[in-house]
Amino acid sequence: MAGFHGVELHAAHGYLLDQFFWPGTNKRDDRYGGSLGNRARLAAEAIAEIRRMTGPDFAVSLRISQWKVQDFQAKNFNTPAELEEFARIMVDAGVDVFHCSTRRFWDTEFESDQNLTAWTKKLSDKPTITVGSVGMTGEHIDTLMGEGSNVASLDHLLQLMDRGDFDLVAVGRGMLVDADWANKVREGRIDQLNNWNPDVLKSLA
Ligand SMILES: Cc1cc2nc3c(=O)[nH]c(=O)nc-3n(C[C@H](O)[C@H](O)[C@H](O)COP(=O)(O)O)c2cc1C
Repeated sequence: MAGFHGVELHAAHGYLLDQFFWPGTNKRDDRYGGSLGNRARLAAEAIAEIRRMTGPDFAVSLRISQWKVQDFQAKNFNTPAELEEFARIMVDAGVDVFHCSTRRFWDTEFESDQNLTAWTKKLSDKPTITVGSVGMTGEHIDTLMGEGSNVASLDHLLQLMDRGDFDLVAVGRGMLVDADWANKVREGRIDQLNNWNPDVLKSLA
């Protein structure tokens, strides 16, 4: 009714839905705990209900991650088979797009040279969004320690995109510090991009 084209469920970073996914926090012994299918159930039910209340043309994105705010090494999926089973449940429930959060887009999974976004695309056959330190030397968590980041080359990202690893790219700090980020990148004005400085947040408050 509000006229939006889609919605994204944040099920990453150790947030509520991710607390169900991750065995490190999900200690339930009912139908929402235990097997991967049980741990995925709450999110799948939420997605199915969103799909039911909207319609086939309403885009539903699911934001997932292996890492948690409280544990950078955490893994929801230890193997491609586990990720594939999870993705199938979510696609069956109505997910159109997976937004796979990594702290650094170049971090790889499953002893391969591909990140979580690439693996999810391959195993789900759905479009995926990558995110994490795009165009930045350091990761966003450093902001909490008051640290900035310098502008970094986009060459590696473009190589992975050309290879078909993902379809879309999300940018956090680059755009917080410079609303013109996308136009500058599109026009090749990389030399005009701005470094990230946490003080920028004060001007946005
Ligand atoms: C100032 C700031 C606040 C953020 N707050 C949250 C948050 O509340 N919850 C969350 O899941 N991620 C949060 N993030 C992480 C972003 O969602 C995103 O994953 C991250 O910034 C990676 O993109 P970037 O490296 O391009 O900045 C925050 C990031 C920044 C820079």
